[in-house]
Amino acid sequence: MSDASTLTLNNCVTMPALGFGVFQTPPDETRAAVSAALADGYRNIDTAAAYGNERQVGEAVAAAGLDRSEVFVETKIWISDYGYDQTLHGFEKSARKLGVDQIDLLILHQALPSEFDKTLEAYRALETLLADGKVRAIGVSNFMVDHLTALLDRATVVPAVNQIEVHPYFTQPQVQAMNAEHGILTQAWSPIGGITFYRDGQHSSTLQDPDIGRIADAHGKTPAQVMLRWHLQRGRSAIPKSTNPQRIAENIDVFDFELTATELAEIDALDTGRRGGPEPEAITLETFGRAIPED
Ligand SMILES: NC(=O)c1ccc[n+]([C@@H]2O[C@H](COP(=O)([O-])OP(=O)(O)OC[C@H]3O[C@@H](n4cnc5c(N)ncnc54)[C@H](OP(=O)(O)O)[C@@H]3O)[C@@H](O)[C@H]2O)c1
Repeated sequence: MSDASTLTLNNCVTMPALGFGVFQTPPDETRAAVSAALADGYRNIDTAAAYGNERQVGEAVAAAGLDRSEVFVETKIWISDYGYDQTLHGFEKSARKLGVDQIDLLILHQALPSEFDKTLEAYRALETLLADGKVRAIGVSNFMVDHLTALLDRATVVPAVNQIEVHPYFTQPQVQAMNAEHGILTQAWSPIGGITFYRDGQHSSTLQDPDIGRIADAHGKTPAQVMLRWHLQRGRSAIPKSTNPQRIAENIDVFDFELTATELAEIDALDTGRRGGPEPEAITLETFGRAIPED
């Protein structure tokens, strides 16, 4: 069986491939969710300044009794904190809330296509934080091919990660190919298609897909486990979110089976090309900007 549990980033930092997401996890439920995840063996937690729950993530990590080096903590700078000095300050805010001196992976949450110079200044701040040892790796999120091209043209450090929407119904092959070409790890957000349930207001779509269901039955696994295994075997990182202890445990129980090449290709073929999340090209400060509190 292939070892899909650890990935090595382009700066040689290693990271658990399967992480735990906390988007839309209310602050008062975050500590319990992250504590459950850590107890089940997750060692990679993905939060963001914009999620409003960094403090509770930090509390759960501190309470777990693990050495700090055992838990990989990722967070994201929101667009309202872009600009060189603002992003350096954004790091200080996140580190303070998380209660850590060093963040393992710090990424820009979105490109700001209409103000790309501000995005570049924010990325330059990440490069400074990396050089100063304040972060162990830097990256981006929701960067499309044009955004990556413009960034790579000016950046000194190639991002280690591009965190993008990837689930069986939306796989962004061109972005994944560009990531791969430059040694940038694709990290899948909404890895089991959560963004489509949120938007539809019901738990349907990928979880009830007949092909995924058939593959799950063949392995005695659940649809969510099959989708997560698909990411791992395709070399991606995946960061499923749950606040339900049973589902938190289910989502990390993916290391005892292996999908066949045919099954992987069948899941690849489910792509509809239809994005669940916001159109990255349309992100502006006017529509999505909001202040990130100091504390
Ligand atoms: N960079 C970005 O712009 C961006 C955008 C979106 C997300 N993210 C990151 O990616 C993480 C995951 O994405 P996501 O939260 O949108 O979607 P997801 O992880 O694909 O799906 C989460 C949804 O699935 C449910 N669920 C979880 N495990 C399940 C299982 N085994 N069976 C059935 N249902 C299950 C959850 O409900 P319960 O909680 O009730 O289990 C929740 O409704 C986020 O938490 C965040 O860290 C990043």
